[in-house]
Amino acid sequence: MTAPKIVVTGRIPEPGIDLLKTVGEVWAWTQDEPIPHDIRNGQLASADAVVTILTDTVDEAFLDAAPNLKIVANVAVGYNNINVPACHARGVTVTNTPGVLTDATADLAMGLILMATRRLGEGERLIRSGAPWKWGMFMMLGSGLQGRQLGIVGMGGIGQALAHRARAFGMSVVYHNRNAVSADIEHALSARRCDLDELLATSDVVSLNCPYSEETHHLINAWALSTMRDDAVLVNTARGPIVDESALVEALVNGGIACAALDVFEHEPEVHPGLLGLDNVVLVPHLGSATVETRTAMATLAARNVVGHIEGSGPVTPVT
Ligand code: DGY
Repeated sequence: MTAPKIVVTGRIPEPGIDLLKTVGEVWAWTQDEPIPHDIRNGQLASADAVVTILTDTVDEAFLDAAPNLKIVANVAVGYNNINVPACHARGVTVTNTPGVLTDATADLAMGLILMATRRLGEGERLIRSGAPWKWGMFMMLGSGLQGRQLGIVGMGGIGQALAHRARAFGMSVVYHNRNAVSADIEHALSARRCDLDELLATSDVVSLNCPYSEETHHLINAWALSTMRDDAVLVNTARGPIVDESALVEALVNGGIACAALDVFEHEPEVHPGLLGLDNVVLVPHLGSATVETRTAMATLAARNVVGHIEGSGPVTPVT
């Protein structure tokens, strides 16, 4: 029997590759820039399994190029880069990597909240500019987090991990989620569920931690921003298109909200030019899961999904 062919379309940590090699013949793209389509399609033609990264688009054309494909294992918790119904219609299993990046992403969200409220990006830019400065009683004052309200949109694992961190900083927590989390979790986090309108109108910090879908496209649009407090901070570590970036620029320029901290962008890797010159925005390049440990765990979980599928025990974290 020939070994199953596993194609890895983006560079991933070696332990993931090593694990894949235990169950099949692995062809892996090893460069940081995206795989050219002709090379990718050449490999997909004989692929039984494919491991993708979030910059790969798995659409009908991708699937057409892979007639023997049985599983797409995405090395990300988000899977908006994959047309899941199209995969399922062709009998292709889809998996993602939930859980293993929860802490890293919540850490980053908390870091962004601190950067925004304590004006750390601005301070760093000042020092690096070489401009003269000296300590002053009223220099670059930010605001503290104690007693402030954090509004979490999307109370899955990452939202809950962020709530936990925010509580340690003395914040109160409200959340908006399709379903309530268990009473035990609400109690442990002292978190109260409310509707989105209330969350936006009352929170000092609004953090987006929901998946991206048609339903959440531009969830934060001009109207939503207009209902936020003018001293509020918006943090996005979820997916860029949840926010209408043009409307955000407008709100930041006109004082509709105080500041924003963004890890993800509507047209990633492009950043709205209107954001680049603003001092009241923190911009980082999609670093939510970017720790050595986390990326290794993500690659390993994706590989375990492929192994489970090939060995017959089933993938560990299928997308349903
Ligand atoms: C994910 O896994 O969806 C993250 O955005 C990757 O950092």
